[in-house]
Amino acid sequence: MHRPALHRSVAATLALFALSACDDGGGAPAISLPDAAPVVDAASDMAPEPEPEPEPDAAPDDPTAEVPYTAELDLPAEPFDYANAPIPAHFRVETLGFHGQRPAMDADNTPADNPVTDAGATLGRVLFYDTNLSSNRAVACASCHEAEHGFSDPRVFSEGFEGGLTGRHSMTLVNARFYAPGHFFWDQRAGTLEEQVLMPFQDPIEMGMTLDGLVTRVQNGDYYPPLFEAAFGDPAIDADRISRALAQFVRSMVSTGSRYDEGRAMVESRGDNFPNFTDDENIGKYLFSMPPPAGGFGCFFCHRGEAFIGLEAASNGLDAAPEDEGYGEVTGQSGHMGTFKVPSLRNVAIRPPYMHDGRFETLEEVIEHYSNGVQPHANIGLPFGVVGGQVPQLDMTVAEKRALRAFLRTLTDEEMLSDPKFGDPFVRP
Ligand code: HEC
Ligand code: HEC
Repeated sequence: MHRPALHRSVAATLALFALSACDDGGGAPAISLPDAAPVVDAASDMAPEPEPEPEPDAAPDDPTAEVPYTAELDLPAEPFDYANAPIPAHFRVETLGFHGQRPAMDADNTPADNPVTDAGATLGRVLFYDTNLSSNRAVACASCHEAEHGFSDPRVFSEGFEGGLTGRHSMTLVNARFYAPGHFFWDQRAGTLEEQVLMPFQDPIEMGMTLDGLVTRVQNGDYYPPLFEAAFGDPAIDADRISRALAQFVRSMVSTGSRYDEGRAMVESRGDNFPNFTDDENIGKYLFSMPPPAGGFGCFFCHRGEAFIGLEAASNGLDAAPEDEGYGEVTGQSGHMGTFKVPSLRNVAIRPPYMHDGRFETLEEVIEHYSNGVQPHANIGLPFGVVGGQVPQLDMTVAEKRALRAFLRTLTDEEMLSDPKFGDPFVRP
């Protein structure tokens, strides 16, 4: 586990304290220590390096050297409303009353000790758009998670700070808050969002920093201390605060303003026809939301509830013998091989390409996969199944495919994607 220099000095102090407590014998386990020397040794072993901590590659003429820097920010005098942004009533009720289609708000993965605050998410927004936070100052989080592309990347694989390509396709960040297990990445390797948001910085392809280097870099930006003070009560900058602020910003990206939401708010249940929908859209909604015995395609088995997000990792039968084992590579369990996080379908129409490897360029190709391309796999999820080595195909008609696509398009939330509160706060030259 990496720790920033600031934390190391605290650790050294605590170690010193623990050792002196042993010396006093105050109920602590009897570790016999000579009186003076070891305490001093232990402390100096763990003493912080001199400040500022030198970066290995920070030669004086190196443009990435750790020197103070500035930037112009365009932030509102009163922060945007992140903490109390309205959540529609349908996010608080079960969808269709099916087992497992629980209210989105009940699946909220916000931890009690890191609620979204307006000042915290504002700081997160600045960190998210700050290219200074990659080792050569070339990319920011936003480089691979672009608002207009549903906070994903239109490229199959994203380019990191030195032009290297990521191993998988970028993911949308919208409604990530409503993934109950709280795991992140296609293979779910990050246990929490707080853990996830520090990983891209340290990824050798994505942003190329160390955690200590990141903290020093943020400390050197003259616009950061006031933002940390507003968010956390004092201007101290450490990795934990960077993580909290970024997680708050990502969790604030909630989409509730699509045509789907408008229609949903007009009726009792998702099962009712939406007055603002075309016939195709209403038919597509039925096909998406009903199981095969009722003439639907059972998409909701995996893309659940009003956030249209998974309950756990699943296989949708992309490959009979996957090269990328996804979640299985992380846990090593046979039941997880070939399974991936089920992404939210919010804004799906405007963020091709699709799947963890970006293999499908259009929604038509995705629908074609679900209609006739599903491959047999031991871990394939409902409503698919393997019968005699084959998956019975949904065999959608042309009209059904058109309706399904029309429905998926109602999940686009233009208002959210162009909302300045999620946009770039830097005044770029
Ligand atoms: C160079 C491109 C790149 C950069 C920079 C980048 N990301 Fe990502 N991001 C990706 C890719 C690719 C994935 C999927 C990787 C995987 O699953 O293996 C991803 C996945 C994620 C996820 C997981 C979403 C989910 O639902 O599980 C989150 C959250 C995220 N990124 C946030 C961030 C944040 C915050 C930053 C900045 C600190 C950032 N990303 C920087 C490319 C990037
Ligand atoms: C068994 C669970 C399951 C079912 C049922 C299912 N999906 Fe998926 N879906 C997934 C998984 C898992 C992924 C990601 C797979 C990957 O990238 O490896 C996914 C990905 C997608 C994507 C791409 C999203 C993105 O961000 O790239 C779309 C679109 C989609 N599904 C639509 C549908 C539709 C439409 C249906 C119904 C016909 C459906 N799904 C049924 C599990 C399921």
